[in-house]
Amino acid sequence: MEDRRQHWEQVYQNRDPSTVSWYQENPARSLILIEETSVAADAPIIDIGGGAGRLVDRLLEIGYSRLTVLDLAPTALRQAQERLGARSREVTWLDADVLEHEFEHPYAVWHDRAVFHFLTDPGDRDRYVGQLTTAVEPGGHVILATFGPDGPELCSGLPVQRHSPESLTGCLGSAFEAVDFQEEAHHTPSGTIQHFLYGRFVRLSD
Ligand SMILES: C[S@@+](CC[C@H](N)C(=O)[O-])C[C@H]1O[C@@H](n2cnc3c(N)ncnc32)[C@H](O)[C@@H]1O
Repeated sequence: MEDRRQHWEQVYQNRDPSTVSWYQENPARSLILIEETSVAADAPIIDIGGGAGRLVDRLLEIGYSRLTVLDLAPTALRQAQERLGARSREVTWLDADVLEHEFEHPYAVWHDRAVFHFLTDPGDRDRYVGQLTTAVEPGGHVILATFGPDGPELCSGLPVQRHSPESLTGCLGSAFEAVDFQEEAHHTPSGTIQHFLYGRFVRLSD
């Protein structure tokens, strides 16, 4: 949707990526959860709404070789590419809205930190889960990090839907099995604390 794209483009055009509230120098919990999937180093992994985040840098350092970053803000993708320099050519970059993109092949791991919680409309959440079901291979892994029950009600000035383990499990539905939930107190660059919930799920076979 065009106003969603405009909102995020403006954020990235006006802010240094290391000052935004969701900034992480080291996305340690995401890395642990991805490593716990035990997928091979050449398994296809996608970071949904990866923005200018550093998860892709760390995954490359560890040795994962089939990485995709999807985001609807081209400025964010460019910032990540410039930071990575020549290594950015090892990554597939998708300038797209997760709700609209036609995925060309399935992924072994779908990671999303702080994107799903912007879907406050149940119809959009269903659409997201439809995309997830198409784009994650049977036996594949889904890692969703959202604001938890005690998290903020807004992020980047937009309303969010906070989630509990039960609500995330309910949203994903019967095609996914919950494997693990972890809470995290995220320290923002401005010194506040935001409560996140990380959920890991496995896509069941058809
Ligand atoms: C709060 S930021 C989180 C960035 C990154 N995941 C992280 O944890 O550092 C949300 C990101 O999702 C992107 N985004 C929001 N809605 C999206 C959508 N519908 N499709 C693709 N990207 C989206 C934004 O451009 C932004 O980069």
